[in-house]
Amino acid sequence: MIAGARNHKDDVAVPGEFFFTWGDFADVAALLYQMSGIHLTETKANLVYSRLAKRLRALGLKDFSTYIDGVKDPREKEERSAFLSSLTTNLTRFFREPHHFTHLGDAKMPGLVRRARAGDRVRLWSAGCSAGHEPYSMAMTVLEALPDAGRLDVRILGSDIDPLIVQRAATGVYSTEDVEPIPDTLRRKYLHRQGDDYSLSEDVRSLVSFRCLNLLGDWPMKNRFDIIFCRNVAIYFDGPTQDRLFRRFSDTLEDDGHLYIGHSERAQTEGLVADALTAYRREARNG
Ligand SMILES: C[S@@+](CC[C@H](N)C(=O)[O-])C[C@H]1O[C@@H](n2cnc3c(N)ncnc32)[C@H](O)[C@@H]1O
Repeated sequence: MIAGARNHKDDVAVPGEFFFTWGDFADVAALLYQMSGIHLTETKANLVYSRLAKRLRALGLKDFSTYIDGVKDPREKEERSAFLSSLTTNLTRFFREPHHFTHLGDAKMPGLVRRARAGDRVRLWSAGCSAGHEPYSMAMTVLEALPDAGRLDVRILGSDIDPLIVQRAATGVYSTEDVEPIPDTLRRKYLHRQGDDYSLSEDVRSLVSFRCLNLLGDWPMKNRFDIIFCRNVAIYFDGPTQDRLFRRFSDTLEDDGHLYIGHSERAQTEGLVADALTAYRREARNG
């Protein structure tokens, strides 16, 4: 495209097996934004084409506009899930941005251990947990400080908008390549060989529960959280959507609770004070 020129909606956006115009791209972007808050720019046209082409092929369709009409229909639950799964980026790994787990273990766990041992409820949330590497890394960090966490009122929630990735997370089974970033001592303690793969031990798995949840929709959880990890998720949202989300996290954190976000994200929200690298402490509420 010539700099400054606008793409015409009837022009072909990406040439290929299936007919895909800039108008189709705009429809996909609007639908995805409405469903998830994910903001797509036109630089993502090739990515959209290649990811959704697999769906068109599977359904035996010839053009994107027929596919989009189908996905717009709220009764097409299965294809709407497949659409979301195709367009979300699920890249993750165990102990990603390890300084957050060091902070959780060293700065937060001593206080949380005291509270859990006193019979208090302790709640952690991995919001946008993808295939589970993040909440399970949190669980191993918790167990290192509190080996009997499973017998106390300590729970970790992993949630994601993508139902297929949530199902995958709940299996707790990972490839050799996946488990590579887990430190040796933790691998020996919390992983068991399962054929060519590894499964997480029962004490890790039983601390974590998973649910499918759109962060932009209602949150059915009644209680506040001590710890929220929401990393590399808000980066896909536009500014106002990010601000709204961080405000809701601030409201949902216990006093002195912590929010951890991705390395390229920033939260400038009332009640949240920067405390460590991309980690924010919830200020105490008055009264
Ligand atoms: C790049 S992954 C990040 C995974 C993990 N937090 C990490 O940092 O490794 C982003 C995840 O956010 C999820 N996501 C995107 N929009 C969402 C929304 N509106 N509500 C909940 N999850 C969402 C995607 O499905 C994807 O699994």
